[in-house]
Formats: sequence, C-alpha cells, structure tokens
Amino acid sequence: MKIALILSVAIASSLPAVAMANEKLAQDKQCFGCHTTKPDGAAPSFQKISQHWKGNKDAEAKLVAIIRQGSAATAGPHWNKATMPDQAERPLVSEAEARQIAKWVLGQ
Ligand code: HEC
Repeated sequence: MKIALILSVAIASSLPAVAMANEKLAQDKQCFGCHTTKPDGAAPSFQKISQHWKGNKDAEAKLVAIIRQGSAATAGPHWNKATMPDQAERPLVSEAEARQIAKWVLGQ
C-alpha cells in the first residue's frame, strides 16, 4: 500500500512539467474554445496540425504567424471554410508565447 503510494507520487512528479505548462498557456489563451488536442472541434485538432506540418522546416515560424495573426497570415483558411481569427477576437499572444505554444502544438 505504502509502496503503491510512493510509486504513484514518483510517477506523477515525473510528468513532463513543461508540456503541462504549455498546455495551460494554450488554455489561458482560449485556444481550446475552437481546438482540441485530438478529435476535431470547430477547428482542426492540434494532433492533426502537428502531423500536417511534420518535417516542414518552416513549421514553427508559420505556426507562430498563424497563432498571432490568424489564418489570414498564411492566406488561409486551408483546412476547411472556417478561419482562425486574429487577436482582435481573442486574448493577446506575445511572440514568445506563440513560439512556446507552436512548439507544444508540433509535439502533439
Ligand atoms: C475562434 C476559433 C479559434 C480560436 C480561438 C483559435 N483557433 Fe486556431 N484555428 C481555427 C480554425 C478555424 C483554423 C483552421 C484555419 C484554416 O483552415 O486555415 C485554425 C488553425 C490553426 C492552426 C493551423 C494552421 C495551419 O494552417 O495548419 C494553428 C497552429 C492554430 N490554429 C493554433 C491556435 C492557437 C495556438 C490558438 C490559441 C492562441 C488558436 N489557434 C485559437 C480556429 C481558432
């Protein structure tokens, strides 16, 4: 019993804290109002986006632009008819925050 408790505490504390902080940042910026990590919501899932951009060396820069300026930054929409709005309609995301979230999205 005691061993199981110690074990579960050890496992919980080894969870990637950085990934969790990045997900929290995406939550704070209301990204999950439209996106989810797996099934598609109104917007493509972060997992699908990650797969789409895999191997593209410009991925991070493109994603940062889209996260800050919306679909129009890359002449979108390209997934469907819905567009991702610019920051007039959602919480402000700084360049550094966008970079952090883009890295997290690409890791999904
Ligand atoms: C109002 C709904 C909405 C919100 C809020 C939103 N998005 Fe989006 N996002 C979309 C839609 C719709 C698309 C698909 C646009 C397209 O087809 O080009 C998209 C596309 C994207 C893409 C992929 C673009 C591509 O071409 O592959 C990324 C990355 C992304 N969003 C990240 C984010 C992040 C990070 C946040 C939070 C800061 C966020 N989005 C908030 C609706 C939203």
